[in-house]
Amino acid sequence: MLFIYNFSDFFQRSPLMTKLKRGKKLRLALKNLRFWGKVQVFDVKKFIENSLIEIQKIVGDQKVISACSGGVDSTTTTALVHKAVDDKLVAVFIDDGLRREGEPEFVVKTLKSMNIRTKYIDAKDEFFATFKGKTDAEEKRKAFRDKFYKTLGKAAEEEQIGFIAQGTIKADVIETVKGIKSQHNVLEQIGINPEIYGYRILEPLKELFKPDVRKVARELGLSEEISERMPFPGPALSLRVLGEVTPDRVAIVRKATEIVEEETKNLNTFQNFAVLHNDKATGIKNGERVYGNIMTVRIVDSTDAVTAKARQVSYNVLRHISERITEEIPSVVRCLYDLTDKPPSTIEFE
Ligand code: XMP
Repeated sequence: MLFIYNFSDFFQRSPLMTKLKRGKKLRLALKNLRFWGKVQVFDVKKFIENSLIEIQKIVGDQKVISACSGGVDSTTTTALVHKAVDDKLVAVFIDDGLRREGEPEFVVKTLKSMNIRTKYIDAKDEFFATFKGKTDAEEKRKAFRDKFYKTLGKAAEEEQIGFIAQGTIKADVIETVKGIKSQHNVLEQIGINPEIYGYRILEPLKELFKPDVRKVARELGLSEEISERMPFPGPALSLRVLGEVTPDRVAIVRKATEIVEEETKNLNTFQNFAVLHNDKATGIKNGERVYGNIMTVRIVDSTDAVTAKARQVSYNVLRHISERITEEIPSVVRCLYDLTDKPPSTIEFE
């Protein structure tokens, strides 16, 4: 045994082996360099040029509907498709009752300012009806997705549309394919044929990560408010209401989100938000014992959302957020800060 060990050790250190190892290391380094060279250089102008040709070729004479939530991904998709097919595009904003304060008005105004034909669909009641009695995270995601595509399908039928454009990006596809969660906007990858909803899907950003999507947005001339916008999930505040999604519970998260965003706007983080828990805790309001709501604040740094780090925010900022949330939202008695990175957590709670 000793002999074998010594012999192997001797062989590993021999000049021949050292040369071979150096050669192998060099080859590996060159391979890495070529790989990263290919991956890292993103030619935004070329991407847009190719996408326009591709979209025009696929769409032909048909009409396209773009579901735009106002996030950087869906707005960039909408702008790109609009550039390609002009007035053959109609943008749709579905008001699901789950958006942040002032968001529906902002999105519709932004789309109209880009001279895009825009349709506002008020589907708030229908979405809340679909969430009724549902508490399981995946069940809620599926309910959202189904209602979303049915609503969009109805609009597509009215407009006699052949294609739906949506802002799926690489991170959405990766997480869905890995089975981490079924992102609402990834259909084909989870084996759902979009034609059951009556149309085909156009996903021009499917191969890009968020930083490159922002480059496309800037190159297309979108306002900074859009190109630098904080990521916000398609199922919106429903992912931040643990347990049943009701109008009252969404209103609590909407207010807390506004507070967190206001108090963290100068931190330059990837994503900041608040989550409402499904369980309750004891607290004191106006000198009386109450059994009230618990909220968690999450502030993370990330570049591509595939991994993330909880930000080490100053205690004063956290304390101020906690004071505002518990004072301005009467039902909240306890406010927590999430210290967990992704992995093991995900960015959203559901
Ligand atoms: P997670 O929670 O998976 O989130 O770490 C990664 C990024 O994706 C956003 N997210 C979604 N975006 N549809 C979307 O469009 C979804 O279903 C969805 N789920 C999560 C999340 O906000 C984060 O930026």
